[in-house]
Amino acid sequence: MKPTRLLANSLAPQAAGPVALVTGAAGAMGAAIATRLAQDGLRVVLVDIEGDQCLALGAQLRALVIEADLSRVESAGEIMQLVEAHAGGVDHVVNNAGLNRPQSIFELKPQDWDAVMAVNLRAPVLLCQAAIPSWEKRGGGSVVNIGSRVWLSGAIPAYTASKAGIVGLTRSMAVELGKLNVRANAVAPSYVDTPFTRMNRPAEEIEQRQQRVIGMTPLGRVGTAEDIANAVAFLVSSNAGFVTGEVLHVCGGAQLAARS
Ligand SMILES: NC(=O)c1ccc[n+]([C@@H]2O[C@H](COP(=O)([O-])OP(=O)(O)OC[C@H]3O[C@@H](n4cnc5c(N)ncnc54)[C@H](O)[C@@H]3O)[C@@H](O)[C@H]2O)c1
Repeated sequence: MKPTRLLANSLAPQAAGPVALVTGAAGAMGAAIATRLAQDGLRVVLVDIEGDQCLALGAQLRALVIEADLSRVESAGEIMQLVEAHAGGVDHVVNNAGLNRPQSIFELKPQDWDAVMAVNLRAPVLLCQAAIPSWEKRGGGSVVNIGSRVWLSGAIPAYTASKAGIVGLTRSMAVELGKLNVRANAVAPSYVDTPFTRMNRPAEEIEQRQQRVIGMTPLGRVGTAEDIANAVAFLVSSNAGFVTGEVLHVCGGAQLAARS
C-alpha cells in the first residue's frame, strides 16, 4: 500500500480563494472537475493513488498534488494534515475516486466487496470527518460525492451497492453537517466515456454498450467528463447555496429509463 506523500506544491504563494480537494484527480472525470474548479477561481488539491499522473495537471492548475491510497484508513487524516500545512485548510471536498469490481453475485469474493467499499464509500466518510476542523474554522463549506445512475437500476452488486450507499451517505451528511454550514450533494452520472468504462474492453463491445446507453437516454448521447465537471462546479458554488442533500443525475435523462 502506498504511503501518503506530497508530490508537488504549485500553489501561487500569495493566492487566496477557497480550496477544493478532488480525489481521483488522475482520472478523466477528476481531472475535468479540478480543471473546471480552478477556472472558477478555486485553489485545487489533487489526490490520487497514481500521484505521478497528476503532476502535469498540478503544474498547469497551480495545484497541490498528494499521492494517497484512499483504501487505507490513515490516508484521510494524513491528506488533511498536508492540506492544512500547505493550503491552510479545505472548503470543498469532491469525493470522486472510484473503483469497480465487475463480478456478479455468483462470483463476488469478500475481498472484492471490501476493496470497492473502502474506496467508494468509506474513504468519503473518513475524508469528510478529517475536514471537520477546517469547516469549523472557516464557517462552512461543501461536499460533492460522485455516485452513479446505476444506484437506481441494479447491476454489478459491489459497485452498485457502493453508489446506492453514496446516496444515503450524502443525505446523512447533509443532515448532520448542516449545523456547520456545510452542504452535501451527490452527482450521479450515467455512462461517461473514460478509461473507467472502457476497462480494457474490445472496441466492438464499447461501441455496443454506448449505443445501448444512447438508446435509453432522452438526450441521445453519452456523457462527457465536462458535463460532470459543470454539475460539480454548480454544486460547489454559491449558486447552490441553499441546495443540500440532493442527488443530481447528470445523464441526459437516462435516470428515467427502467433498466441499464
Ligand atoms: N465513467 C463513467 O461512466 C462513470 C459513470 C458513473 C459514475 N462514475 C464514477 O465517477 C468517478 C470517476 O470515474 P472515472 O470515469 O473518471 O474513472 P477513472 O478510473 O478514470 O478515475 C478514477 C480514479 O480514482 C483513482 N483511485 C482508484 N482507487 C484509488 C485509491 N485506492 N486511492 C486513491 N485514488 C484511487 C484512480 O487512480 C483513478 O485516477 C468514479 O467514482 C466512478 O465510479 C463513472
